[in-house]
Amino acid sequence: MTLSLSDRHGCVLQSEIRNMSIECARTGGINLSQGVCDTPVPASVLQGARDALTTGINTYTHYAGLPELRRAIALKQNRFSGMNPDPQKEIIVSAGATGALYCAFQALLNPGDEVIVFEPFYGYHISTLQAAEAVPVYLSLKAPDWSFSEHDLESLVTPRTRGIIVNTPANPSGKVFSLAELELVAAFAERHDLFVFTDEIYEHFLYGGLRHHSFASLPGMQSRTITVSGVSKTFSVTGWRIGYVIADAKWAQAIGYFNDLIYVCAPAPLQAGVAKGLLELGDEYYRMLSIEYQAKRDRFCEALSLAGLYPFIPDGAYYVLADVSRLPGTTSKERAMHILRTTGVAAVPGSAFFQNYAGEDVVRFCFAKEDSVLKEACQRLKKLR
Ligand SMILES: Cc1ncc(COP(=O)(O)O)c(C=O)c1O
Repeated sequence: MTLSLSDRHGCVLQSEIRNMSIECARTGGINLSQGVCDTPVPASVLQGARDALTTGINTYTHYAGLPELRRAIALKQNRFSGMNPDPQKEIIVSAGATGALYCAFQALLNPGDEVIVFEPFYGYHISTLQAAEAVPVYLSLKAPDWSFSEHDLESLVTPRTRGIIVNTPANPSGKVFSLAELELVAAFAERHDLFVFTDEIYEHFLYGGLRHHSFASLPGMQSRTITVSGVSKTFSVTGWRIGYVIADAKWAQAIGYFNDLIYVCAPAPLQAGVAKGLLELGDEYYRMLSIEYQAKRDRFCEALSLAGLYPFIPDGAYYVLADVSRLPGTTSKERAMHILRTTGVAAVPGSAFFQNYAGEDVVRFCFAKEDSVLKEACQRLKKLR
């Protein structure tokens, strides 16, 4: 017998994002490739976790999460989107939004099921679908405003279509779906009886006064929507691995069982810290988050323009796609390497977010950095002029 890797191992090849981070570390550059925010963690979140560690909240929690965290998530969801999820039956705390989505796909998709994904896409969505042996079907958004039509959606439907992923605000485009676009998706999902998997991890990173709309709060959408979000970005705790699913009880239980199987539970004391933060941080915290990140966005996009790299200004999240077609190279990887060699700033090649070799004219920068780091990166980009 010859030992070999599984047939499915190909869906989790080393991501371009990780590759660039490794190359950046090797050369001592500024890493604007990975979506790791290094801004401060709110004091109440840290204090909550510290208290939990020292008061013995260190054993397994219920697979769906600490009851107080589920209650805090329900209150937060009600406060920001008017939803009323039942914390006992409709919320599953998982290992980040990544774990939440993995469990949801495992619980709800069969091999061969097709799921519509907007392109440019977040690579984990694709790999996570493929790990469930589901098939991503791509809808290319039209730059520069990343628009799409009802016809685009309808043209992709087959008898195997089972769901659609809506990531708003989106990584990497920064697209924030308008209410009209969400309503269009809602009518489409209803017509074809589809699951709508949302990824709302950037729900508090919105610019220009835009408002986040949780898809499940649209009329009639609660029962078919699998809402995924988490606090990695909002509280700058990407390493804590706390995210969640909100879904109708008829789906949530099976999703929870997969969570139990794969992770058992999310880290107990960190769940407690997040619960404290969700309960104690007022509207001002979330308002300031948008204001601070909008200032970062504006500063960084201006530097890109000055460097001759046209930025597709994002309305949300904390990434920006920039046109690098004037730089030497024929692929986005060569152009990203040129930027790293010339300036010491790492970006992700655009091909990581598109299928079929598209995206070669763009790279993605992450601007979730301390102001001093961002300032230095802006300075360095001038070398590309
Ligand atoms: C769209 C999107 N979803 C999910 C995640 C990961 O979230 P978590 O840390 O909660 O797993 C990221 C991180 O970059 C992301 O960009």
